[in-house]
Amino acid sequence: MIFFLHIILATVLAIVCFLAITVMFMMLQSVFMGTPPYVPVRTGALDLIVETLQLRQGSVLYDLGSGDGKVLVHAARKHPDISVVGIERSYLPRYFSKANAVMRGVADRSMFKGGSFLDADVSKATHMYLYLLPHTMLELEEKLERELKPGTRVVSCDFRFPGRHSERVIPIPGNHRFGRNLYVYVF
Ligand SMILES: C[S@@+](CC[C@H](N)C(=O)[O-])C[C@H]1O[C@@H](n2cnc3c(N)ncnc32)[C@H](O)[C@@H]1O
Repeated sequence: MIFFLHIILATVLAIVCFLAITVMFMMLQSVFMGTPPYVPVRTGALDLIVETLQLRQGSVLYDLGSGDGKVLVHAARKHPDISVVGIERSYLPRYFSKANAVMRGVADRSMFKGGSFLDADVSKATHMYLYLLPHTMLELEEKLERELKPGTRVVSCDFRFPGRHSERVIPIPGNHRFGRNLYVYVF
């Protein structure tokens, strides 16, 4: 009996250590490479984000750097007639996205891909959501201008495209340090 308890304890400890090391690795990677860290948007902002995207029947919503997929899963639940695509290079949040999509019953309309969004083909998007960093917005601007269909609606949390005028700036209610504004662009 004691032997089995030790085995269970050791397994739980191993899982906790694995998760802690993975999160630390993700943080260090962001710090040293200067790339957007894994900071999910506030749950309280999800309805406003989905409303601001103005999704309609047949929309294909992309989230570049989709984290744990919370925006995409929320959008797919609110709009049963759309499909969603997330691109997330970190394994752990991507795994959570897939599990979340299965648990919320939207897995058949969701796709979560690995790798960098800078190398991905995003031309099928009709709508896009971003929560990145200023220099990533600069890197992405030219790519999106090249690849997106005219009329694609892009909503960015907190960070603007340096070379484009936003159609609207929508404040996210609440006095928070992050997740303060949504910038709306039409490409
Ligand atoms: C601030 S989080 C936003 C997560 C999610 N979009 C949200 O709003 O909750 C940024 C995410 O982008 C991912 N990321 C950063 N650079 C990336 C790249 N070049 N390709 C794919 N994912 C990237 C990070 O791993 C992180 O999970």
